[in-house]
Amino acid sequence: MLLEIKNLKVSYKTVNGKTTVLNNFELNMDRGDSIAIVGESGSGKSTLGGAIARLLPPSGEESGEIILNDQNLLSLTEEQMTKIRGTEVFMIFQNPLNSLNPVKTVGFQLSEAAQIKAQRNGTSVAPEEINKIVVDALKSVRLPDPDQIVKRYPHELSGGQVQRVVIAMALILRPKLLIADEPTTALDVTIQAQVINLLKALNKEYGMGIIFITHDLSLAYVISKKIIVMYAGTIMELNESSDLIKHPDHPYTIGLLKSVPTDYKTNTRLFYIKGSPPSFFNLPKGCRYSPRCDKAFGKCHEFEPSLIDVSNGHKVRCWLFE
Ligand SMILES: Nc1ncnc2c1ncn2[C@@H]1O[C@H](COP(=O)(O)OP(=O)(O)OP(=O)(O)O)[C@@H](O)[C@H]1O
Ligand SMILES: [Mg+2]
Repeated sequence: MLLEIKNLKVSYKTVNGKTTVLNNFELNMDRGDSIAIVGESGSGKSTLGGAIARLLPPSGEESGEIILNDQNLLSLTEEQMTKIRGTEVFMIFQNPLNSLNPVKTVGFQLSEAAQIKAQRNGTSVAPEEINKIVVDALKSVRLPDPDQIVKRYPHELSGGQVQRVVIAMALILRPKLLIADEPTTALDVTIQAQVINLLKALNKEYGMGIIFITHDLSLAYVISKKIIVMYAGTIMELNESSDLIKHPDHPYTIGLLKSVPTDYKTNTRLFYIKGSPPSFFNLPKGCRYSPRCDKAFGKCHEFEPSLIDVSNGHKVRCWLFE
């Protein structure tokens, strides 16, 4: 087991009081597994990533258990956490600039990563070798002119270039667990495809566990073995990717899938789920999705269903399956 999350809860302190945005979150991941977290904007995906890497903003509070390689991250001090960040767990932020230091050049930061990696492996590397590792990583992410890129500061690069620098850093560090939060949103489709293939290669060739956060179900399907569908801070469905796409059970998953454009005929109207996700300050009674659900019946509006096993590895939070 690489990662086991039990009963994770995350709240933020705000001017309007405390809001709990993740509740009863659970996850099991084997070494080399890849899991996508899918859900609408505000469903708590980035919060989950930040909670695992222990990089939530100061207003964030987390409780529960996040066991990475037999160590409960929530019981580590910041100092202990710093020692494992990078090589045990590495997070690619939705805003890539957050992953880099603004006052250090790209070359400096990537070299530092290469040194950290060597140190933690108990090896030493010569300066020329470090340089080669850095340039090779930049080439792997298809950044042209790596010799120029290394001299620049993060703000001197485009969003897509920064994102690729961060992925190059992951390539150098080769963490056991990579959390990639919408890593390709700033990239155009051809580069997106290259980056996705690169992440898949990291997963397959080095057995790097990947938690891939995206709002795009088709991307989730391409990259990961399993998909977790989130809604308003809770898991609604979890299944193997191909089963989830072929046989979605939760009405929300069905709605999300119907919203994905599948043909290019003109004048086809795209389907969308009516209404919008609830505010965390004013969650509906019963199932969080019930106000938008076309299959909701009596008790859906009264009681929140629990996440139940429908078959091996397939879980659904819905009264239709209880
Ligand atoms: N620092 C914060 N303080 C207070 N509330 C926050 C903070 N960060 C996020 N939230 C709230 O937590 C909820 C989940 O946000 P989160 O960023 O995790 O969603 P997301 O699924 O990543 O959305 P997106 O797809 O837009 O990136 C939202 O309601 C958001 O407003
Ligand atoms: Mg997010």
